[in-house]
Amino acid sequence: MQFSVRYILLFSIAVCGVCAVFVSSLAVSLKDRQETNEKLFKQRNVLEAAGLIESGQSVTPQEIETYFENIEAVLVDLQSGQEVEAEDAAAYDQQAAKKDPKLGRDAPKNPSLVFRLPLKAQVFKIKDKSGAVDMYVLPIEGYGLWGTLFGFIALDSDTNTVQGLTYYQHKETPGLGGEVDNPNWKALWEGRKVFDNKWQPSIQVIKGQAGSPEEDPYRVDGMSGATITGRGVENMLDFWLGPDGFGPYLENVRNGGVANDRLKGAA
Ligand SMILES: Cc1cc2nc3c(=O)[nH]c(=O)nc-3n(C[C@H](O)[C@H](O)[C@H](O)COP(=O)(O)O)c2cc1C
Repeated sequence: MQFSVRYILLFSIAVCGVCAVFVSSLAVSLKDRQETNEKLFKQRNVLEAAGLIESGQSVTPQEIETYFENIEAVLVDLQSGQEVEAEDAAAYDQQAAKKDPKLGRDAPKNPSLVFRLPLKAQVFKIKDKSGAVDMYVLPIEGYGLWGTLFGFIALDSDTNTVQGLTYYQHKETPGLGGEVDNPNWKALWEGRKVFDNKWQPSIQVIKGQAGSPEEDPYRVDGMSGATITGRGVENMLDFWLGPDGFGPYLENVRNGGVANDRLKGAA
């Protein structure tokens, strides 16, 4: 049987039309689920950074929700270091904000190759049962060897002692820079100090082995064969804890100067 050119063309257009409708309706119907999964993924990483769950531990969405009953997301004006009112700080998309000309700005030149900054950044405050803040979980990002690493650092209420560090997206080589994901490497961070006695960011990722957090608080072992990724981690902490990142906010927290009664009861 032979088909005419017209028949083949119409048939192909009809097949394309049906497929397009199928794919786009699938995308639309799954949008809510995708957004929910993205939110859960982010929340999971906040919990991991705070050491409330182990990396790779299986947790249900209900368990995540229960943890988040004691976690408050707030938005911080990076330049003033003050918390600002937000309708839904938990749903804030910092990555979209930094690209928006009205919600972001160009970053000053920095070794971490952060090119754009959001005017407002998200902070997660982990609270104890009395409502006092136990930890601050801050989003961080910066260049490694192959691309930008995105993660969180959790600081104790003293704004100085590291509770945990985690990366949820990066392009580093598995087994080399990809060791930023290794629970053994991440465990080296707990108890280190990020600021020196003049409150300047001072944590270093060194080539070789550092001592224990008590005797060597400002240094962390590098990953072997991945000096460049280690330097990237150091650079991004230097940037995000400094004056263009969360430095002003953390200083306000220490001075009790965060003009927000939600901080009542904080250490
Ligand atoms: C295929 C390949 C992948 C690499 N991936 C990384 C990486 O993810 N992170 C990194 O710092 N270095 C990586 N390196 C090594 C760097 O090029 C560089 O040699 C290294 O950072 C130096 O670290 P070292 O002084 O600890 O040996 C890679 C090298 C090769 C050949």
